[in-house]
Amino acid sequence: MRLKEVLEEALRLAKPPPREEEELKETVNLLLRETRAEAEKTEGAVNVSLEGSAAKGTWVKGRAEADIFIHFEPTVPKERMEREIVELGFRVLERLKGRPRLMYADHPYVEGRVGEVTVNIVACYRVEPPGWLSATDRTPYHTRYVLERLGAEQRDQVRLLKAFMLGCGVYGAEIKVRGFSGYLAELLILHYGSFPGLVEAASKWKPPIILDLEGHYRSAREAAEAFPGQPLVVIDPVDRARNVAAAVAEERLAEFILASKLFLRSPSLRFFGAGPKPRRPSLTQLARGRNILAVSFRTGVKKPPDVLWGELRRSGEGVKRALERLGFQVYRSGAWTDEEKECLLVYELAYLRLPPTRLHRGPPAHHPNALQFIEKWVRSRERAAGPWVEGMRLYVLRREGMTDAVKLLKREVLEGRVALARGLIDEIKQAKITTQVTRLARNRRLQRYLREFLSARPTYL
Ligand code: CTP
Ligand code: CA
Repeated sequence: MRLKEVLEEALRLAKPPPREEEELKETVNLLLRETRAEAEKTEGAVNVSLEGSAAKGTWVKGRAEADIFIHFEPTVPKERMEREIVELGFRVLERLKGRPRLMYADHPYVEGRVGEVTVNIVACYRVEPPGWLSATDRTPYHTRYVLERLGAEQRDQVRLLKAFMLGCGVYGAEIKVRGFSGYLAELLILHYGSFPGLVEAASKWKPPIILDLEGHYRSAREAAEAFPGQPLVVIDPVDRARNVAAAVAEERLAEFILASKLFLRSPSLRFFGAGPKPRRPSLTQLARGRNILAVSFRTGVKKPPDVLWGELRRSGEGVKRALERLGFQVYRSGAWTDEEKECLLVYELAYLRLPPTRLHRGPPAHHPNALQFIEKWVRSRERAAGPWVEGMRLYVLRREGMTDAVKLLKREVLEGRVALARGLIDEIKQAKITTQVTRLARNRRLQRYLREFLSARPTYL
C-alpha cells in the first residue's frame, strides 16, 4: 500500500464514529453532574472539570476515557484531599454502577467504567504555575494549552500517532510500558505539524532529542543541560522545570525511531496493530534448544497495576543480578502479569548448569599468604585438584557443590540473598521456578506473552 492509502485507512481505524462521540459526551455530562453535586458537599473542593483526551478530542476509537478532575483549595492538606477523592470517586461511580476501583499513579485516584467509557476521578489543587503542590496540578494547564493550539485536522493527526504508538507498543506512560503519554503525543504533533512530519523527523533522530516548544531555554544545549542523561527531553510548555518525556525508557524511544524508519520504508497497517498478523511458531517450537528459566507466582493482595508492575520490574532486576552473581550469563529478561494475580519473571540464559569445577586463583608463591592458601585448600572438601603452580601463582581446581540454575536460584531466594521488592518477597519465596516454560502457559494471555518473549521480535518487523 502507498503511504497515503495507509494513512487514510489507519485514520478510519483510529477516529471514533459519531455514535462513540455522542456516548462519551453523554457520559461525561452525567459524570460532571454527579461529581459536582458531590463536590458541593465537600469542604475545600472548588471546581470540577473534564481533562485528558476527551476534553481535547484526541482519544482513539474504542478507547473513550473521561478524566474527571476535582480541584481543591491549596489549604486542604494532601492526606485529606486524597481521602476525599477516593470516597467521592467511589460514591459517584457506585451510583452509576461503574464498578469503582482504587488506583495509584503517584497519587491515589478512582477508576471505573460506565458503559463503554473508562472513567478516572482524580484530585488536583487549584494553583497558579509554577506553584504546583501535587503531580496532577499541571493537567488543567496542559488541557488548556493543547485546546488553544491544536486544530481539528491536527486532532486526527494525534489519533493517528497514538494508534501508531499503540500498534508499536510504545504508547502509555504507565510503568508497564514506560512509553509516550497522550500529552507527549500532542506536543509532538504540535511541534512537527503532522503525523507524517513527525515520523519523517523521528526516522532521523539521534538521541538526545531536545524539543522546547515555548523556548523556555535560550538554546537546546541549555535545555539539555537541565536534564542530563535523558534521551528525549520535551520541555513542558506550562512548566520549564519538567520534562514531559521523563517516563520514556530509552528502549521505547529506540523502538519508536526504528518503527518510523521501517514504516517509511514500507508503509503498512501492521504498524497500527491492524491487518494480518504474522503467524508465530508454537511455544514448544520456540523453546526448543534454548535455555529458559521462569519464576512463576501469584500475588496475594490485589494492588494497582502501577504498583505491581513496579514491584515486578524491581524484583526481576534483583533475580537477574542474583543469576549473574551465581555465574550465569543472562541474555534477556522479561516480566508479565495479568494485573490480577498471575505473575511471571522470565530469563533466557546461555546455560542452565554451571561447569562442575572452577579455576580458583591463589596468591603468588612468594606472597606471605602462600602457605595459608595451601593449608586451606589441601584440607578442603571442595578441592578437585591442586594446588599447583602456574607462572608465579598457586591455583586449585574447585568443585561446585550445586550447579543447577533452578536449585541455586531457589536457595538464594529462600536465604534472602536476592533483592526483591518488599511487596512480593513472600510470593516469590513460594514461586514455582522452572525451566519447562511450555508447561507454564496456564492461560491464553500468559501463553501469548511467552511466545512474544521467545520470538523476541515486534509484530511490525
Ligand atoms: N492524569 C493523572 N492521573 C490520572 C489520570 C490522568 O494525573 N489518574 C493526568 C495525566 O497526567 C494527563 C491527563 O491527566 O496530564 C490525561 O492523562 P491520560 O489519560 O494518561 O492521557 P490522555 O491525554 O487523556 O490520553 P489517552 O487518549 O491515552 O486517554
Ligand atoms: Ca485519558
